[in-house]
Amino acid sequence: MTDKLIIFDTTLRDGEQSPGASMTRDEKLRIARQLERLKVDVIEAGFAASSSGDFEAIQGIARVIKDSTVCSLSRANDRDISRAAEALKDAQRARIHTFIATSPLHMEKKLRMSPEEVLEQAKLAVRFARNLVGDVEFSAEDGFRSDPDFLCRVLEAVIKEGATTLNIPDTVGYAIPELYGNFIKNLRERVPNADKVIWSVHCHNDLGMAVANSLAGVMIGGARQIECTINGLGERAGNCSLEEVVMALKTRKDYFGLEVGIDTTQIVSASRMVSQTTGFVVQPNKAVVGANAFAHASGIHQDGVLKARDTYEIMRAEDVGWSANKIVLGKLSGRNAFKARLQELGVSMESEADVNAAFARFKELADRKSEIFDEDILALVSGENISSDKDQYSFVSLAQHSETGERPQATVVFSVDGKEVKGTSDGNGPVDASLKAIESHVKSGAEMVLYSVNAISGSTESQGEVTVRLQNSGRVVNGVGSDPDIVVASAKAYLSALNKLQSKADRVAAQG
Ligand code: KIV
Ligand code: ZN
Repeated sequence: MTDKLIIFDTTLRDGEQSPGASMTRDEKLRIARQLERLKVDVIEAGFAASSSGDFEAIQGIARVIKDSTVCSLSRANDRDISRAAEALKDAQRARIHTFIATSPLHMEKKLRMSPEEVLEQAKLAVRFARNLVGDVEFSAEDGFRSDPDFLCRVLEAVIKEGATTLNIPDTVGYAIPELYGNFIKNLRERVPNADKVIWSVHCHNDLGMAVANSLAGVMIGGARQIECTINGLGERAGNCSLEEVVMALKTRKDYFGLEVGIDTTQIVSASRMVSQTTGFVVQPNKAVVGANAFAHASGIHQDGVLKARDTYEIMRAEDVGWSANKIVLGKLSGRNAFKARLQELGVSMESEADVNAAFARFKELADRKSEIFDEDILALVSGENISSDKDQYSFVSLAQHSETGERPQATVVFSVDGKEVKGTSDGNGPVDASLKAIESHVKSGAEMVLYSVNAISGSTESQGEVTVRLQNSGRVVNGVGSDPDIVVASAKAYLSALNKLQSKADRVAAQG
């Protein structure tokens, strides 16, 4: 058994399956680059056979990622597996992850297959995948609720067919740490040639135990791969959270004794990027990445931390990427200082032209806001605030009037395919009036399923970051916009969401 623990990130696949968290190809690429900076061992980039958008996203990621293995999920059939292999063709290191359910409930009710048929299909799938790539992961979906005798037969068979990683998911988040750990231990002891493969854990968080279960799978069960997502994103209550599990392993290395290759200083940037992209806000008291995770409010705690930091802090904020010096730049800061700060924040720009464009946006913001924080810089380069040539709609200007006792009015000027148009409307409040002004022209008919505002750096002087989630014809998209004026931020977020609804290229993983 090795001491290296593999971190398999599935934010772009299982995380994206969360209703409303669908991402465009460009968003997935941006997050994949951040995952590579974070040094995750495996990036599960999507489910190639699920849509052409997902196929293209995996293909794009496979072409640019050099340091992490890139993986695609596939059901246990030749068509899915061939699509996965095709999408991964240009990867430096490719993995096919094939799965089939093995619990009595799933086999009978969902698959309508007998255990013998499932066993046969699992064998054929792994055999087929191994002819296409050398690195094949097999997952027994709903593994924890499967009959151990049957599961042992399936796992023994797929090892014989050449599977290199065996994953035992707790698909519905039903496990308890000790039981899950012992379940994996028992499988590893009973399955012949168990030592020839890496054992993996994949835990959902329905009872809030995904991190604890994953760690038990490692410590009791002997697993050496953890599947997890940034911010614990994922269906229902989500998956095992990468930042929590990694910081547990690093902070308590004395207990776990395992090597984890993650560059933890990239954690906060990754968390922020995923939250901005999906519109899934991180709760303030969330471990490691929540805004309060390192804040000491009580006088006794503050006094203790000032005297000796480790009285109340078990991790250092800067080790996970929270900046020690938060006020960073202002109006007089030059391009070099801006570029250096981007580097410190782990943001790499593709070209000098991109740096120049970001610097111009920074100057524009600095004219309106005296102190620029790291969070402002990250928002500036997050992609949501960068209009691209592909965008159909882009924000130009906004005027609104609101007064106590009067119905607010707004006029929004925006461009549609490069041509300026103007929409005017009243509304319940200035935000409502502004979005109705846009809609009066666009007539998308989309339903708004989420609207949220967040102060980027925590005070009224900060920029407002608005997330708008729209639903239309079965598709759900998120738009994010930021600006010191939250009405403007709202209009930008709305236009950004409309761009995603309109753009055919962006049709990734439609959500019902
Ligand atoms: O939760 C699960 O069982 C999965 C598998 C497809 C690995 O996500
Ligand atoms: Zn899952």
